[in-house]
Amino acid sequence: MSADHEELLALARRVGLEAAAYVRSARPAGRVDVSSTKSSETDVVTAIDEACERLIRERIFAARPDDGFVGEEGDDVAGASGVDWVVDPIDGTVNFVYGIPTYGVSIAARQDGEVVVGHVVNIASGAEWGAVAGAGSWRYDGDERLVLTAPPVARLAHALVATGFNYVPEVRAKQAAAMAAFIPQVRDIRRIGSASLDLCGLAEGQFDAYVEQGLKPWDLAAGGLVAREAGLVLSGLDGEPDERLVMAAHPSVAEEYFELVRACGF
Ligand code: IPD
Ligand code: CA
Repeated sequence: MSADHEELLALARRVGLEAAAYVRSARPAGRVDVSSTKSSETDVVTAIDEACERLIRERIFAARPDDGFVGEEGDDVAGASGVDWVVDPIDGTVNFVYGIPTYGVSIAARQDGEVVVGHVVNIASGAEWGAVAGAGSWRYDGDERLVLTAPPVARLAHALVATGFNYVPEVRAKQAAAMAAFIPQVRDIRRIGSASLDLCGLAEGQFDAYVEQGLKPWDLAAGGLVAREAGLVLSGLDGEPDERLVMAAHPSVAEEYFELVRACGF
């Protein structure tokens, strides 16, 4: 049986805001200590990432004990309800470590594998976005929903493109080579450091397009739904966006943009 999407969103939002408040209060002044590394020496984790994910798991399972869970900092849990949660407790950990105020909590719910609900909150500023599949995406102003419609793009050559780079040096080198071919063909790029916040920014017109390789499901799920529901087209190399490639653009330039990204060798 299908879960009520508004109920799932209400849970995602309640837990996301509590998690953001926890991270805000737990963050010491200055640099945050790194507790371990993952895919490379620069792919860092802090004790606060881990504690934040534990908090989110506890709250979700207290409310919905039969659901599954996929989180960046813990083991996957297979559920029995058809709903599973895809969670990044801090998306933008490097920014968090250095004190750059662009890192968020990203919580999505999937029904039978399809992302149906997303909630993203910028921990430092409190800015919040939500989305329900088929029902739109919005920025929150208190409890009010300011519906998002991504603006059209007149010329690709004038596009401001959000992007990011993988933590693995060999992958970064390939991304940099593709970027060298790409950057003369657009206005400029922005590397903000939090994929979910990039995608929410794209949905509200802060950027014209997006490209990144190496995203994990928790980087993409909630922000990707916010972007899609704002009218953007998301694609992978050929088919759905995935770890190999995520591209996003307004339908007015999507095909031309996807062609450009592929031609640059991403
Ligand atoms: C990272 C951020 C970054 C992206 C990386 C992600 P994390 O997530 O979203 O913008 O470029 O690919 O891994 O590690 O800070 O949760
Ligand atoms: Ca993270």
